[in-house]
Amino acid sequence: MTMDRSGNAWQSSSPHERPTVWVNRIPAEATRLLRHRVLWPHKASPEVCVIDIDHAPHAIHLGAFVPAEVAKPWGIEVPGLDGKLVGACSLFDQHCQRVEVPWKEGMDMRLRVMGTLPEVRGWGAGGALIHRAAEETLALGRQVLWCDARQVAFGFYERLGFDYLNEIYDIPDIGPHRTMALDLSSPPQRNS
Ligand SMILES: CC(C)(COP(=O)(O)OP(=O)(O)OC[C@H]1O[C@@H](n2cnc3c(N)ncnc32)[C@H](O)[C@@H]1OP(=O)(O)O)[C@@H](O)C(=O)NCCC(=O)NCCS
Repeated sequence: MTMDRSGNAWQSSSPHERPTVWVNRIPAEATRLLRHRVLWPHKASPEVCVIDIDHAPHAIHLGAFVPAEVAKPWGIEVPGLDGKLVGACSLFDQHCQRVEVPWKEGMDMRLRVMGTLPEVRGWGAGGALIHRAAEETLALGRQVLWCDARQVAFGFYERLGFDYLNEIYDIPDIGPHRTMALDLSSPPQRNS
């Protein structure tokens, strides 16, 4: 996967044909069903798949979409937007405090609740969301995108250029995590 921060081009290293994937900003409410299906199935319903800062200043919610016809019947409809939602993530103005970091408060954005539907894994939706999240972070004048990564996603974040900031720790109900960060002040790189 190649990150191109200069425009919308999104190139995958996969030789296989994949459906077009695009990313839009979406309302916080549009993330809930995906959060429930992919990230928090242990919660009672999509309606409770909220974060207390979903509507905080600088909170940005991104959705990855594919053409409606390739995502029937499992893609998620978002009123007013074309295509079907197949992935989402949220960005918050939260400084990394879990570990000591070499950058100052106000230089970073936190990536949270990142997920793509199982049906589209490997189609580039996750990478497209990170690409757009990096653009949004830079547009805010920030230089670092960080997250508490689930163990199952370590390889994904590594692939997209994130570095580890600590060792494994446990989050109750969710599992093992490590804090990871993408430094946007240096040229993009693709890890193999
Ligand atoms: C992790 C996740 C978001 C990846 O989404 P995806 O839509 O499959 O990602 P992409 O298709 O854009 O993959 C981007 C690249 O990362 C690679 N990749 C994806 N998941 C990977 C993994 N777990 N380990 C290693 N590489 C991975 C892909 O092969 C692709 O590489 P390429 O450049 O050779 O094409 C998705 O698997 C997911 O939602 N998992 C469950 C929820 C979760 O754990 N979310 C993260 C919370 S911190």
